[in-house]
Amino acid sequence: MNDIGLVVGADILVEGGVIKEIGTVAERPDCDVFDVSGKIIVPGFVDSHTHLIFAGTREREFAMRAKGKTYGEIAAAGGGIIDTVRKTREMPRSKLRSQAQRRLDKMLKWGTTAVEIKSGYGLDFATEMRILETANELKEQAITDIVVTFLGAHALPPEHANNRENYIRIVIEELIPQIARKNLADFCDVFCDEGFFTTAETEKILKSARDNGLRLKMHADELASNGGVELAAALNVVSVDHLENISAGEIELLAKSETVGVVLPSVAPYIRGKVAPARQMIDSGCALAIASDFNPGTSMVDNMQTVMWLAVSLNQMTVEEALNAATINAAAAVGLSDRLGSIEVGKQADMIILNAEDYSYLPYHFTENIIANVVKNGTVLEFS
Ligand code: NIG
Ligand code: FE
Repeated sequence: MNDIGLVVGADILVEGGVIKEIGTVAERPDCDVFDVSGKIIVPGFVDSHTHLIFAGTREREFAMRAKGKTYGEIAAAGGGIIDTVRKTREMPRSKLRSQAQRRLDKMLKWGTTAVEIKSGYGLDFATEMRILETANELKEQAITDIVVTFLGAHALPPEHANNRENYIRIVIEELIPQIARKNLADFCDVFCDEGFFTTAETEKILKSARDNGLRLKMHADELASNGGVELAAALNVVSVDHLENISAGEIELLAKSETVGVVLPSVAPYIRGKVAPARQMIDSGCALAIASDFNPGTSMVDNMQTVMWLAVSLNQMTVEEALNAATINAAAAVGLSDRLGSIEVGKQADMIILNAEDYSYLPYHFTENIIANVVKNGTVLEFS
């Protein structure tokens, strides 16, 4: 995690959106040359965990937590995720779409060239499908690479508050098969945590998703340590995300597994919760990614430069670990490390060119966008 594979003074030959050569490339008359001498180039950021499609904001809850209310208390009183669900159910498809596109454009300017998008603010058949269809339209049409995740088990919707079995049945018997048949999601995720879904419920939902051909992710140990990581390792999920309350035993399990741990550094300050022990996890041999968790409740952060700064200053990662965690390991967290996440021959030419003399400037000067150019599929983008 600490080796970024630094190369000094190399040319990069890109053809058809793919990196073909790195090193000394002889000048060719049929090539456009883009001079980056004296600049730093890093891979485009992969934001491997976002709840990008949502309506409204929740600043009042942020203010309530500043006065001592907890995230769990606010959720139990009908706020939290359910507040965003009410607003999202009312938002027409066209607005969901235009708002999401604007969010992606902003992220791209800050260097994020691939984004995972979760559903989970619909929690009924029609709205979950609308969110997933919107995410898939973006996957087809946006410049950004998109990975789509179904998170129907994000919270118990109010109309099923007294009958959780029935909602879980709808997720398993109605939503998952339909989503798989229409190819609307790459992954299925569950919010496995205290006050949300138990490990037994999570196991049932994820096994049915797997049987339907979806790959697996989990939210675990955000609010409490409840055995989520043990289940994640047993199911061999692609990534297990949050981990603020991971136990020593679970760190050992994660280190031995093939699963990527995704740390979301901005969540702890938003919910006044614990900071994920990234240092211990890395020192124990876990592979970690970092992501924004962009959502209106626990992270109004859409910018991987800020996420890197938090990872270094709060989670005690090194700058090199944070850079790997935001790029190659993040690509692994969405199952795309064969194509994204590093500047290597054969990979997609998604790169960011920095106005800085040293890559450490990235997390060091996090309130300023130090990106000179974003290169996506080999094209140097122009921003209006
Ligand atoms: O990752 N933990 C579950 N989902 C989000 C929070 C969603 C919300 O509060 O709206 C998260 O932190
Ligand atoms: Fe999340």
